Amino acid sequence: MTHFSQTHGLRLGVNIDHVATIRNARGGRHPDPIRAAQLAVEAGADGITAHLREDRRHISDDDITRLKRDLTRPLNFEMAATDEMVAIALRHLPHACCIVPEKREERTTEGGLDVVGGANELQRPIDQLKAAGMRVSLFIEPDERAVAASARLGADIVELHTGAYCEMDLRGDAAGLAEQLARHQLAAKLAHDAGLEVHAGHGLTFNSVGAIARIEQIVELNIGHFLIGEAIFGGLHGAISRMRGLMNEARASVGGRKTA
Ligand code: PXP
Repeated sequence: MTHFSQTHGLRLGVNIDHVATIRNARGGRHPDPIRAAQLAVEAGADGITAHLREDRRHISDDDITRLKRDLTRPLNFEMAATDEMVAIALRHLPHACCIVPEKREERTTEGGLDVVGGANELQRPIDQLKAAGMRVSLFIEPDERAVAASARLGADIVELHTGAYCEMDLRGDAAGLAEQLARHQLAAKLAHDAGLEVHAGHGLTFNSVGAIARIEQIVELNIGHFLIGEAIFGGLHGAISRMRGLMNEARASVGGRKTA
């Protein structure tokens, strides 16, 4: 049985997809995402996130098998709501399944799930995963209607898509940043009040993590691309421990000690 450690009530899930992206650029086994996952745990990750895409552009089926076999921390399995992915999840029984929208032509997961319009297609996979004892997370926009729809669908968790917030941060758009932050604060509160566990992620950096980490209702951040990129300059351990430190500092500054 794997357990989350609780550091200031805010967990860090490290997404290792892009270690696999680099490996796949040449084929072969190097760099190995499972080795990166183990190093991430040593550096302060509370869990590991991996997205098995329909086109297998980064994480492979074998990576999921090995993660499930070797990992000492919970695996958050990101997946599209397809029969194929549900079958894979049922075979491996990860700690949690995060359902994400997936389009072949996109470079990354560009927005949250259409939980309002697409509720009918989401209900069955959610029910199947939950019936097998997995925690189900929905990757949504920080939006009131999306939160309400997620609660109606019976999700355990919502993960707020921080992409637009991070984009404002990169652009240095202070007004846009404030607006996006307010959306996350409201969505997190509404989700928590509706009994949903709240996570967030996408595009977070050393610079943008603080304000999101200060939202008390959020108990987990999932971060990947920036950490793997930073690892080129200072190593994976250094990048993760710095991120962990910034999260702890931010959370300590609001005195929040929420547990999942
Ligand atoms: N959370 C979810 C649901 C995602 O799909 C991703 C990207 O795969 C992340 C978090 C991490 O985003 P990033 O790699 O930009 O940190």
